Amino acid sequence: MNPLDQSGMPVEEQFRSWSELNVEPYDKRAVDPYTRTRVILMNGIEVESIMFSHQFHRHTDNPEIREALAMSRRVEQQQQKVVNGLNPGDQSPLETTIGYEQVAVDLTAWLARNEPDPVVKMALDFALLEDFDHLYRYANLYELLDGKQAAELTGSLTEVMPGRPTIFHHRDPRDMVKSHYDTHTVHPLTRMHVMTIVAGEQQTMNFYMNHGTDWVEPIARGLYAEIAQVEEEHVTHYGSLLDPLDSWLKQLVFHEYNEVYMYWSMLQNETDARIKNVWELHLDMELGQLQVACDLLRRYEGVDPAGILPKELPDIPVTFEPNKQYVREVLAATVDLRPDGVGYTPVDQLGDDHRFFTFQEIVNAGGTPSEQIIDQNRTASGGEYRDESEGAHPIFPVPARTSR
Ligand SMILES: [Fe+2]
Ligand SMILES: [Fe+2]
Ligand SMILES: [Fe+2]
Ligand SMILES: [Fe+2]
Repeated sequence: MNPLDQSGMPVEEQFRSWSELNVEPYDKRAVDPYTRTRVILMNGIEVESIMFSHQFHRHTDNPEIREALAMSRRVEQQQQKVVNGLNPGDQSPLETTIGYEQVAVDLTAWLARNEPDPVVKMALDFALLEDFDHLYRYANLYELLDGKQAAELTGSLTEVMPGRPTIFHHRDPRDMVKSHYDTHTVHPLTRMHVMTIVAGEQQTMNFYMNHGTDWVEPIARGLYAEIAQVEEEHVTHYGSLLDPLDSWLKQLVFHEYNEVYMYWSMLQNETDARIKNVWELHLDMELGQLQVACDLLRRYEGVDPAGILPKELPDIPVTFEPNKQYVREVLAATVDLRPDGVGYTPVDQLGDDHRFFTFQEIVNAGGTPSEQIIDQNRTASGGEYRDESEGAHPIFPVPARTSR
């Protein structure tokens, strides 16, 4: 289908009442883990669309554009409430966190497997191993604080074990800035993959920025503070891939187009009929919002949207599915890489005076929560928490449990 040929629901008809916005949440004990990840991801997509629209509106003094943005933005806010409202109140912030990192692992791996641009694929593979490690650290916090197993949340669809250890994620901020793609030559899928991962990582960053203080225990507060900083790195890393030279109106069109693609993707795989209806309704809304954005681009820049968008929506939906072997392969091949300028270098080839080591000495002085959490859980639970459904870890074997 070509979204440009679909009129969708007119934006003026998209507003809903409070009772329609206050949706019934899913049951956290019965939900498909990948329904949870779809809800988390689409919340991130909506939050990005809202924050982008606010920034755009503060950068234009055209009253018609500002009013059109205000209309679509209020609808995006309603969409965000409906999507995020699907999360139940009895799902603790730590349980939601484990969902966030499961999103990061299986979304990033899927995008990397389907990414046509080798530079962007490398960027995805690189950060994949880090969110994979975050999942393991938070799973140990979950066992330590709540005595529960993260597999109850992940459904063992995603393994839980060390990735590139979080202690090595902390590097000079300048090494997170990569080269951007060229908007004139970029593959349409690459553009959407980058926009999607930026939105997802940004929402994870926002979540940890605000939920890191929900705990009394110092180890929990410390772990969130540490991993929140890594998500800042990831948002910088992925955000630097976007071509910054696109006009605001073109960026608006790309945002609406990506929302169309993402809702269409989610509805292809949704197993919960009620939530599938949400994806369908929101797809129709995004098609209407896309029409508004395209109209503004035509009238104010004289640009035909068909000239900057693909002829058809890609026929491969972004899919949540297990990526266990893929993650293991990337782990075995690239665990030792460190970002080095716009590229990546194995740690043993970095000079002793590299700014990576200088930065490590500053932030890891006095102990690192992501290491301490494993030690504390080993002591408290008799061993660390892992869910290695595909066999022994390719690099870091599990120390034996001393009791249980
Ligand atoms: Fe939206
Ligand atoms: Fe993460
Ligand atoms: Fe991340
Ligand atoms: Fe939208």
